[in-house]
Amino acid sequence: MKLKNYKDQVVWIIGASSGIGRALAVKLASQGARLALSARRKDELDRLTTTLGQAHKSFALDVTDAELCANTASTIQALFGRIDRIIFLAAAYMPMKLDALDLAATKQIIDVNLLGAFHIISAILPLLKEQVFGQIALCGSVSGYTGLPGGQPYGASKAGIINLAESLHAELPRGIDVKLISPGFVRTALTDKNNFEMPMIINAEQAAKNIACGLLTSRFEIHFPKRFTFLLKLLRILPYLIALKITQIFK
Ligand SMILES: NC(=O)c1ccc[n+]([C@@H]2O[C@H](COP(=O)([O-])OP(=O)(O)OC[C@H]3O[C@@H](n4cnc5c(N)ncnc54)[C@H](OP(=O)(O)O)[C@@H]3O)[C@@H](O)[C@H]2O)c1
Repeated sequence: MKLKNYKDQVVWIIGASSGIGRALAVKLASQGARLALSARRKDELDRLTTTLGQAHKSFALDVTDAELCANTASTIQALFGRIDRIIFLAAAYMPMKLDALDLAATKQIIDVNLLGAFHIISAILPLLKEQVFGQIALCGSVSGYTGLPGGQPYGASKAGIINLAESLHAELPRGIDVKLISPGFVRTALTDKNNFEMPMIINAEQAAKNIACGLLTSRFEIHFPKRFTFLLKLLRILPYLIALKITQIFK
């Protein structure tokens, strides 16, 4: 697989109707990729493909529907001839405290963020194995590194994504590249729901630039902004005795 640039590469972005996914679509299109863009809001996707040009197509998709994921993957492969890269960015989020859990929202977050990723993997692995090449990138979050106050159930879904990406990397043949994307805070519709100050927040275009560069490297994890992500990585390697005392401070 040619990993050096995006020229004529077929890239399926799932979660492309807003935020980081939308900014990434704009970035990769400008670098010559041919895009298959998915999310539930077809009108947003169509507006985007109209702006980006005729080489790109939109495919309405709800990732909680396993059968639709499989059918969409086959349709994209048939239409473009192959799929070089699949970038899973779809996510649901709602700030919640564990003593006031909204169980319906909890189920939806796990269904979209984690089960949705399993649906996509199940849909694309047979195709990628047949192609013998390709790249799968799953979007986790630094919120999945360690349990933080006010971080559930989103944090648990992202911890699951990290674990899933690690297992994929361990299981898949070398021709299929696996990436884990771990953003810090990015200003999007998702973080607009937060009513606390988000340290070192960046915009979606900066996030897209980091992801576009990172997908072309041989590194497993693409994490940014580094000053913030390294702090959280440090928290993860500290002994529980110290780390749990620190996380309690943020209550
Ligand atoms: N923003 C941050 O600070 C931050 C930090 C760490 C990680 N992340 C991760 O970055 C990724 C992108 O998030 P964002 O910040 O750009 O948020 P966003 O603007 O809310 O984008 C979320 C995307 O997911 C799609 N989506 C939601 N439910 C879906 C479903 N059931 N099926 C298909 N698509 C669905 C949305 O489109 P539709 O509504 O049209 O379906 C939208 O395109 C997510 O994985 C998020 O967890 C974000």
